[in-house]
Amino acid sequence: MNDSYWRPISVDSIDSECFPPVALFLKSGGNYVLYKDGDRPFGPDDRRRLERSFTEFVYVRTGDLKEINQYLEKNLANMLEREDLSKITKSKILYQTSVNCVIDMFECPETAANLERCNNLIKQMMKFTAAEPHTLEALQAIAGNNFYIFVHSVQVTALSMLMHDKVFNVDPDEMMDVGVGSLIHDYGMIFITDKILDKADALSDVEYFKVKQHTQKGYEFLKNTGRFGEVALNIIRYHHERYDGMGYPVRLKGDEIPRSAQVAAICDVYSALTLDRSYRKATSHSEALKIMRQEAKAGAFNVELLNRFEEVITLAKGS
Ligand SMILES: [Fe+2]
Repeated sequence: MNDSYWRPISVDSIDSECFPPVALFLKSGGNYVLYKDGDRPFGPDDRRRLERSFTEFVYVRTGDLKEINQYLEKNLANMLEREDLSKITKSKILYQTSVNCVIDMFECPETAANLERCNNLIKQMMKFTAAEPHTLEALQAIAGNNFYIFVHSVQVTALSMLMHDKVFNVDPDEMMDVGVGSLIHDYGMIFITDKILDKADALSDVEYFKVKQHTQKGYEFLKNTGRFGEVALNIIRYHHERYDGMGYPVRLKGDEIPRSAQVAAICDVYSALTLDRSYRKATSHSEALKIMRQEAKAGAFNVELLNRFEEVITLAKGS
């Protein structure tokens, strides 16, 4: 059965008192094996058993997701305030809930309910990421290859919001737009065929040309829904512009590139380098920054902004 049929749920996020009655599965050697069916409630014994076997995630069928998401999102604020859960557990729950929301957002961005869910999650992220930025790595635990684009999107969001929080004095409305735009910055990828996206070898010129269209295509589609603000749309359209004017889709140069898109470009590259991919292992934090400093010298980024990013992220990692 296809992997997209399953979604991971952090065992820590299961509160036996109110978890909905759905079947749970374990991943074993690439297969999904029934752990418990929908009739039996999840109890304290289950938690102990899973903890003993170091199982961090169980899986649910996507058909049960609506119920699960309602449960997770309803309980999120409570879980983030619980004192018996560690910071790392809380961040796993927060990011995993966000990843599920981003997947739905990619499927149906024009649905008001999905946007509303994302807005609520961004509010939780604003509270949590600003207070506990060093837990960004929690995302790594959730990243399976097929979830890469969604995990990446949530990571770019957390990083962009952290930058806007620490470096610029933005009001909550702008922060919300930064969050939404970052969450779906690569939305236009849905217009690119899987054949190109899954290709392990280098892309041909024609294929690369097609991939590059994701910024403009995503922008046009989302703009037409009439649901997204200017800051969000700027991120979606301009996150591959380069400071030296050699980027795409419009070749904006220097500070012609909206600030939110300059920040997103930096966060995008950092996240892409530091997450595992199917074809290469993740680059370390310091190696990623080294590569990015060279890139900035070659004209990819605003050097000053990259310096700020480095300060913020180094502080966040060290805290
Ligand atoms: Fe992109």
